[in-house]
Amino acid sequence: MDKKPEMPLVRALRRYEKKHSTRFHMPGHKGRGGFKDLGRLFKKNLFRWDVTELPGLDNLHEPTGVIREAEEKLAMLYGAERSFFLVNGSTSGVLAMMGAALKPGDRVIVPRASHRSVLSGMILTGAKPVYVMPGWHEELGVYTQIIPEVLQKVIKENPDARAIVVANPTYQGFCPDLKEICEIARQNNMLVLADEAHGPHLAFSPHLPATAGDFEVDAWVQSPHKMLSSLTQSAWLHIKGDRIDKERLSSYLGMVTSTSPSYILMASLDWARMLMESCGRYIAEKALNMAEKARKIINGCTGFYCAGEELKGKEGILDIDLSRLMVNVSVAGFTGFEVEYLLRLKYNIYAEYADLCNVYFLITSWNNNRDIRKLTDALKDISKHGLNKNNGSRNAVQKHASIRNMLADLSAVFKNLPKKAIEPREAFDSGGEWVDLRHAAGRIAKKALVPYPPGIPLIMPGEILENEHIVLTESLIRAGCSIQGTDSNNRVYVTV
Ligand SMILES: Cc1ncc(COP(=O)(O)O)c(C=O)c1O
Repeated sequence: MDKKPEMPLVRALRRYEKKHSTRFHMPGHKGRGGFKDLGRLFKKNLFRWDVTELPGLDNLHEPTGVIREAEEKLAMLYGAERSFFLVNGSTSGVLAMMGAALKPGDRVIVPRASHRSVLSGMILTGAKPVYVMPGWHEELGVYTQIIPEVLQKVIKENPDARAIVVANPTYQGFCPDLKEICEIARQNNMLVLADEAHGPHLAFSPHLPATAGDFEVDAWVQSPHKMLSSLTQSAWLHIKGDRIDKERLSSYLGMVTSTSPSYILMASLDWARMLMESCGRYIAEKALNMAEKARKIINGCTGFYCAGEELKGKEGILDIDLSRLMVNVSVAGFTGFEVEYLLRLKYNIYAEYADLCNVYFLITSWNNNRDIRKLTDALKDISKHGLNKNNGSRNAVQKHASIRNMLADLSAVFKNLPKKAIEPREAFDSGGEWVDLRHAAGRIAKKALVPYPPGIPLIMPGEILENEHIVLTESLIRAGCSIQGTDSNNRVYVTV
């Protein structure tokens, strides 16, 4: 008998949808797209609107009609001279803005903890990275932001750098002193490219940190699919001033974009822009208010710590996006991984992300008070009863101490940048082989080695693996941390 044809992905999506889980992960619409009717329109017209460049529907690659009109409305809203719709995430925007700004051999100043698209940008352009180490928050076990004095020093040592890439905010919601960074960059004739993937909502409330568009940045990219209502993979890029070559930018965008861009994604961008134009402040502040409510309950009624205002001014953090919840659970003797797992399995609550010390929840206007109540009730329950009811407090204290020791080891190794043997582009072009971590000392990495936490690369492509990196990586693996760049046999990928 013929077997019923299988659709494994569709099966998994159906299963997830049927759970009706409480979503604190991306995308920002939380599966509840029905705000102001577009959800219903999409439901009815998904296939009908899935079209290509027909007469009257313009062309994303050379827009002169309705796409251009929609992009102009977007530029007006964000105070940009020109804005571009993207159908391949902020990733493609980062690649395009780096591609427009940098030529092979140019130096570019980048935070060590940049998103992987920045590394891809360096490989594609052949630019030479100059890494800036962000600050480090010992108790939370997370990196923070670029400290202007550290940047000054790096610029002094690399006066010929062409551009600075900066994230506003980081994944944790930390914003740097962008005004100061832009001033330093201007004085040194450097471009500023802002990765604002997590900040498309910042412009809409005075209670949120400043957006890159408020300062003299040359280009900034945002992912409305993360914090607003557009569909996953849609994003937008803004530019201003005359220091970015617009033709070169358009050509680069053309190279990293499909020639069949989805009209569904573009329509969702137009929709997200319209919503922010008509009620942006309400949308941004509804999320902030719900997050604040959750923060108060978590800090008042659980043993966990939800980071807030008090972090401002510490370790390069000028401001913080409080519509994200970063819940430190290591303070109560849990790992972030344990709490994330328990929330998912026992309470049907999906967080955005977890690391050794923290669990992260993204709150947008598409969440509601019921979601907040479920989350805070679950966290109260976990904090009260532990992972299992036999967990004594001695256990928790010991675990907290061992997490702190490991973080101290990590921050010590991170104090010095590894030695660079070749540039990322050369490492990418070299041959490669997987070798056992134990035998990798002295070898040049071909893939970055990124432990979580802290999410900062221990080694970048082209850098030399030393014994201390290997010892630390082994102890992190033993502690159950995930290390991007190693395989299941604890091997690393190096050049030959
Ligand atoms: C800081 C940062 N920049 C850029 C990106 C890429 O955004 P996208 O997923 O829209 O391509 C991400 C994705 O998570 C990110 O965290």
